[in-house]
Amino acid sequence: MAKAAIMGFGTVGGGVYGIMDDSRSRVSLSAGEPIDVKYILDIRDFPDHPRKELFTKDFNDILNDGEITVVAEVMGGLHPAYEFTRALLESGKSVVTSNKELVATYGTELLSIAREKNVNYFFEASVGGGIPVIRPMHQCLTANNIIKIAGILNGTTNYILNEMITKGKSFEDALSDAQKMGYAERNPAADIEGHDACRKIAILSSLASGKFVDYNDIPTEGITEITLDDVHYATQLGCVIKLIGYARFLENGRVFSIVAPMLIDKSCPLAGVNGVMNAIMITGDSVGDVMFYGAGAGQLPTASAVVADMIDAVKHTERSKKIFWEKPDGDITASEEDEKFAYFIRTGDSAEAVRAAFKDCRFVENAVAEESAFVTRPLTKTEVNDGVSRLSSVISRIRVFG
Ligand code: HSE
Repeated sequence: MAKAAIMGFGTVGGGVYGIMDDSRSRVSLSAGEPIDVKYILDIRDFPDHPRKELFTKDFNDILNDGEITVVAEVMGGLHPAYEFTRALLESGKSVVTSNKELVATYGTELLSIAREKNVNYFFEASVGGGIPVIRPMHQCLTANNIIKIAGILNGTTNYILNEMITKGKSFEDALSDAQKMGYAERNPAADIEGHDACRKIAILSSLASGKFVDYNDIPTEGITEITLDDVHYATQLGCVIKLIGYARFLENGRVFSIVAPMLIDKSCPLAGVNGVMNAIMITGDSVGDVMFYGAGAGQLPTASAVVADMIDAVKHTERSKKIFWEKPDGDITASEEDEKFAYFIRTGDSAEAVRAAFKDCRFVENAVAEESAFVTRPLTKTEVNDGVSRLSSVISRIRVFG
């Protein structure tokens, strides 16, 4: 029998314990032996929990217990999750996590310690909640050079946009519902300002390139500036607006990544991804396009990925699966000048002024009174900034995907 611990008894931790308890025989069958949760670490008290004897506030109980071989870190945040994870890996225990902030920040070091100690650091739940994407990328797509990744990587923002569009809910009400359903981060700014999606595209970019892509280098915009007028224009253009995490891997080894709201044509599979669902499209040089779809947030979907990692860790005790990326020798960030996007722009200026600023552009009919709305040809950042600087006002500027 393998012994495990769970660090953090919040939304995901509760789900992990629930699945481990409810699906004992399924877990045992998959792992080849039963997995027994011996400790749950949390600073709070849970006096009414039926297994209250499992709870501890002392991390050393887990670290110093030689029976524990796998630990689920579902506490979130960087500290003390980083120090705990490092100590556990160094002591020869495998760690699995849903903590994208930790993986995106300290993944290079933690994965290297896991490799050195011949244990595993798995993080399937850190991107796309319950969607299998890390393992397929590492295993099934490993024969490919990845060319491009584009995904809806944040359930909260996708849920908010969808509720605004389909039910006319206000931004605040939709966010509050996402929080009640356990989708949103403790600080929802991480969701709505795009930082959560940014960490996820950084993880996928690092995994795909084999080199650490620093999320601090990824231009990131959230959805807080998107209005219902923008949504209506998108509809007129046969598009929807989604928060997209995008990465393109250049032949010179550089990586262009970005997180931003984008207009997506309704014919694109990403356009039909609604509510808390996430989807990730990956283009490989041999396989072509593949797409992963499913619940991107929520207690049980995320816990499902964490428990699968625990099972895999038990199956691979004393055998590191060598998932890793390395610190690059130099800067591998591609400039925003390396990528062109068409832009949807709204301005208070006349159509004539728009034509003078942007040579080729397509106007949207039935614009809101006293404004012009148009879509540019694909432009670099400098080119669009140059055009915009010739206008006297800009109401919205949203990239067009594809
Ligand atoms: N807040 C995150 C989301 C949770 O909404 O996608 C899952 O990572």
